Amino acid sequence: MQKLLLHPAAKPVVFVLCLLPLAWLVYATAANQLGANPAEALIRATGDWTLRALCLVLAVTPVRVITATPQLARFRRMLGLFVFFYAVLHLLSYGWFDMGFDLPDILRDIAKRPFILVGSLALLLLTLLAATSFNRAIKAMGAKRWQALHRTVYAVAGLGILHFFWMRAGKNNFGEVAVYAAILAALLGWRLWHRLRKDRVAAHRGGAASRPATPAARAKS
Ligand code: HEM
Repeated sequence: MQKLLLHPAAKPVVFVLCLLPLAWLVYATAANQLGANPAEALIRATGDWTLRALCLVLAVTPVRVITATPQLARFRRMLGLFVFFYAVLHLLSYGWFDMGFDLPDILRDIAKRPFILVGSLALLLLTLLAATSFNRAIKAMGAKRWQALHRTVYAVAGLGILHFFWMRAGKNNFGEVAVYAAILAALLGWRLWHRLRKDRVAAHRGGAASRPATPAARAKS
């Protein structure tokens, strides 16, 4: 498995796999398979794929640690950029089909509908993360500040779920929202647990290092 993940073809294969949802949407549009309201179906489908890509990118670290497969980390940037890619497609389909690219109308809609405002905030953060996902940005910002900025992906997860929840509130249909919320809560919850465990181990080691090793040494100290 580790050899496979390091294979030169691995990244292009993952890239093509990440494009499959778009290929399906283009095909389904051309073949008129999006139902009675294709515009709405496209806005929703691109929103769904943004959230699914977000779950996938947040799953990389837990899977990497739990399966001891460090090679998985090499796909994280690409998957992160695909979250941004589908979010931009989502915004473009809303901007085009719902708003006819009328900017004043879009700005009014952002101010009027809270779920659109929350979606816009999430997209703003995603844009920052995408813009700083290259090595040059990491060097310019320094590892610590870069990591702090990229932890805002957790806020994107929260905003994405709130956006979806508020969008569905009018329809009283929360089934899918609950599934995504549970997946994201598990992925973020694992991080918290892993972090606390690491801190505990470090504190224990630190305590052990500062304590004199033998009873005699302890008696002397
Ligand atoms: C400027 C940013 C955004 C705008 C303007 C926007 C707009 C919309 C609109 C108009 C809908 C459909 C509402 C309806 O059919 O009643 C929608 C649904 C959705 N959006 Fe967004 N959105 C934005 C950002 C995001 C982001 C960043 C995410 C994910 C993190 C996201 C995930 C979703 C999901 C999952 C749905 C529901 C799809 C479904 O019903 O299956 N959106 N959004």
